[in-house]
Amino acid sequence: MSRRPVNPSRHLADGGSIPFVGAIQSKSRSSPLLSIGLVVVGAILLIGFCYSNSEGGSSSTIKGVSKLEGGASCTSEVLRALPVLKKAYGDSMHKILHVGPDTCSVVSNLLKEEDTEAWGVEPYELDDVSANCKSLVRKGIVRAADLKFPLPYRAKSFSLVIVSDALDYLSPRYLNKTLPELARVSADAVVVFTGYPGQLRAKGGEVAKFGRPAKLRSSSWWIRFFVQSNLEENESAGKKFEQASSKRSYQPACQVFHLKSFP
Ligand SMILES: *[C@@H]1O[C@H](CO)[C@@H](O)[C@H](O)[C@H]1NC(C)=O
Ligand SMILES: *[C@@H]1O[C@H](CO)[C@@H](O)[C@H](O)[C@H]1NC(C)=O
Repeated sequence: MSRRPVNPSRHLADGGSIPFVGAIQSKSRSSPLLSIGLVVVGAILLIGFCYSNSEGGSSSTIKGVSKLEGGASCTSEVLRALPVLKKAYGDSMHKILHVGPDTCSVVSNLLKEEDTEAWGVEPYELDDVSANCKSLVRKGIVRAADLKFPLPYRAKSFSLVIVSDALDYLSPRYLNKTLPELARVSADAVVVFTGYPGQLRAKGGEVAKFGRPAKLRSSSWWIRFFVQSNLEENESAGKKFEQASSKRSYQPACQVFHLKSFP
């Protein structure tokens, strides 16, 4: 995916800006308006070129996000974090709802664990999925549901709710409804996986699939939002998660927040 932003601008820079320089020089006396226009076009090309370069550059400076390139996601990060989540949440790991794209991968991994029941909500289409995923859908374990509407589950149906990526695609107006919904259907905790600002995502296909590009928000933005929505962070769970992470030299490639369920 790093190829995507770089190629078009390189193409423009090679094929476009050099002839423009010549044009500015030869025509600057005859038509000031034209030359101003060309300078503006040149500036836009330059900014575009720098922007795509800096975007490409930042991806290599963030540790551990190599997995996220190519449009992968925090959903795959949930799978990596499972042993750590087990340490932090212990008994609460017995009845889990995962919400997010590619939920079948998380659910089928959770179902392999002993004493674990798992369900999944896929916020986007379930058209192009594996036979295994289709079978989970047929059994009613995984279902498609638009997160802008109430979730089709009773209050406290699950001990733990894990959400990955999905929230990055919702505007604050919908987040205001969706986050309390996740808390409502959980009995013990909600764990939120979101992308770090500056992380690269697959842009073209992503917009087609999710309806809008991901908005990757900072940790302070999220914490402010949780407070506004009366969702409290569970500091003891956060601490346990951190301790278990450092013990295993695990560095999450996504932001992870630990929220309390409603009393
Ligand atoms: C979300 O809810 C909070 C508190 O109920 C409110 O202050 C805020 O304006 C809402 N934001 C949006 C975008 O609706
Ligand atoms: C905080 O998380 C721990 C799991 O680490 C859980 O046992 C505890 O009940 C949670 N506290 C609240 C108030 O939700």
